[in-house]
Amino acid sequence: MLHAFIEKNVGLMAALILVVILSGGLAEIVPLMFQAQAVEPAPGIKPYSPLRLAGRDVYVREGCYGCHSQMIRTLASETLRYGPYSAAGESVYDRPFQWGSKRTGPDLARVGGRYSDDWHRVHLKNPRNVVPESNMPGYPWLSQALVDPDLVEKKMHALAKLGTPYSAEDFAGARAAVTGQTEMDALVAYLQGLGTNTQPAAAEAAK
Ligand code: HEC
Repeated sequence: MLHAFIEKNVGLMAALILVVILSGGLAEIVPLMFQAQAVEPAPGIKPYSPLRLAGRDVYVREGCYGCHSQMIRTLASETLRYGPYSAAGESVYDRPFQWGSKRTGPDLARVGGRYSDDWHRVHLKNPRNVVPESNMPGYPWLSQALVDPDLVEKKMHALAKLGTPYSAEDFAGARAAVTGQTEMDALVAYLQGLGTNTQPAAAEAAK
């Protein structure tokens, strides 16, 4: 019997199990890669400006995602606290996306505009100066380090190759936009943009 033969042949069974799992996985993953909802920008979502792009990389480098998610779930407790739940089309220009699941601190998907730039600067230098009970670390060195214009330009070229629609104008202004700016400026610009370019219509539809 074929069945008995497979069951007694460990190598063959392992190979066949792998085929079953792979085809199941492919059936779930491949359609997602072509779904407009998942691969096209939601209304109002634009590529990162050079300064915000630099800030995003500071966010990734410093491991902020270790304590902060950027994905508001479809639960009333979340939407009441943070705003409309996150849609896949909001993250199409995020490589890699910052959804995360660890929340030692609050979700940051829509933190843009919630505080002033000054608040962020004080908070990032030493969180306890504005939130006494905070256990978030301080990042005082960010105000000393300058953003590297060459690197930002290179990153934009790399992203353009991957399909981010940066225009010739975006490239022309890229270096000037980040020259002389500190990593703190970039990170604050990044934070202030989070969730703010989701248009009200999209936010409404996402409720
Ligand atoms: C060890 C965990 C931890 C890390 C790492 C961390 N945070 Fe936080 N963060 C917190 C906690 C806890 C709070 C809530 C208390 C507070 O406001 O300080 C918070 C609050 C915040 C807030 C205010 C959010 C709101 O809605 O009130 C912002 C903005 C923020 N963090 C940004 C960052 C950035 C940017 C980084 C990386 C440079 C970072 N955090 C790294 C734990 C962390």
